[in-house]
Amino acid sequence: MRPIDLRSDTLTRPTPAMRRAMAEAEVGDDVYGEDPTVNRLEALAAEMLGLESALFLPTGTMANQVALLLHLPRGAEVVVPEGAHLYEYELGAPALLAGALVRPVPAPYGVPDLEALQGALRPGPFQAPTGLLALENTHNLAGGTVVPLEVQEAFLRLAQAHRLPTHLDGARLFNAATFLGVEAARLARGFTTVTVSLSKGLGAPVGSLLLLPKALLPEARRYRKLLGGGWRQAGVLAAAGLLALTEGPKHLERDHALARTLAQGLLRLGLEVDPQAVQTNMVYARVKDPQGFLARLRAQGVLAGAVGGRVRFVTHRDLRDEEIPEALRRVEAALQAKAP
Ligand SMILES: Cc1ncc(COP(=O)(O)O)c(C=O)c1O
Repeated sequence: MRPIDLRSDTLTRPTPAMRRAMAEAEVGDDVYGEDPTVNRLEALAAEMLGLESALFLPTGTMANQVALLLHLPRGAEVVVPEGAHLYEYELGAPALLAGALVRPVPAPYGVPDLEALQGALRPGPFQAPTGLLALENTHNLAGGTVVPLEVQEAFLRLAQAHRLPTHLDGARLFNAATFLGVEAARLARGFTTVTVSLSKGLGAPVGSLLLLPKALLPEARRYRKLLGGGWRQAGVLAAAGLLALTEGPKHLERDHALARTLAQGLLRLGLEVDPQAVQTNMVYARVKDPQGFLARLRAQGVLAGAVGGRVRFVTHRDLRDEEIPEALRRVEAALQAKAP
């Protein structure tokens, strides 16, 4: 039985077109800035997202952490929506690398409470000063949820009023743009720096981008190198990234529709799913014993993940349409199976 893998949208394999592009990529040494395919990817990303420049990095984690290094003096705070990936799932890197404190604020459905955010600002000099405001769109732990445009605008106005830089963890920014029916550039506009992943819903095997002002680019390149991300003939990866950026967004509407179908099916089977949180390509279900349930799912040929004490299902490009009803049949069988 072929397993149906719903653990993450990072699991997609490069398409045949990507593999061809990778094989034929023109390359050079990117540490010297001489890889033409990387340079093309960075230029296209900057243009598509409306920021001055872009840097290609191995991971979203590295992109986020380079951003913190760029923005924060040691001992300063970054304010994030609760559950932010850069705080919860980047292994304490803000403390280890930038020497930063992270202050989470309440964020139902990943949408920060702006009054709480305002109250979280620390001007100094008797406290660690606030040095950066961050947003995550879509918000992974909240369910792949989207920040409404008006909240984003109020967030940016608040930052501007306090002369604070802003970082957007847009690992899945194109999913948010698809949900809202706007260009991704509309969601990136106004932020000082933006992370976008190519290796998630967009389907590239490896890679993320950090969008940033031109003036910060030399320092960002220095931090990338320092963190071990100074890669050489990375054009073989950027070639896949170019296709992810141009072709990937077209597939996201389908991923989202599959997630809705999956959520409706899980609800019918009696699982505790919050339909309001199912906005993009993720479905979280609250179950009593997530690990036990995951094991029973695995035995039936469905792979899901345990995230934040819940079970997470993620739809992606490598799924066939008919695998969602089939996954639901297998979930039903897992629910009927006795706990071992
Ligand atoms: C919102 C968000 N930001 C950043 C990352 C980190 O990306 P990477 O796995 O490429 O380090 C992830 C990974 O899932 C994520 O969900």
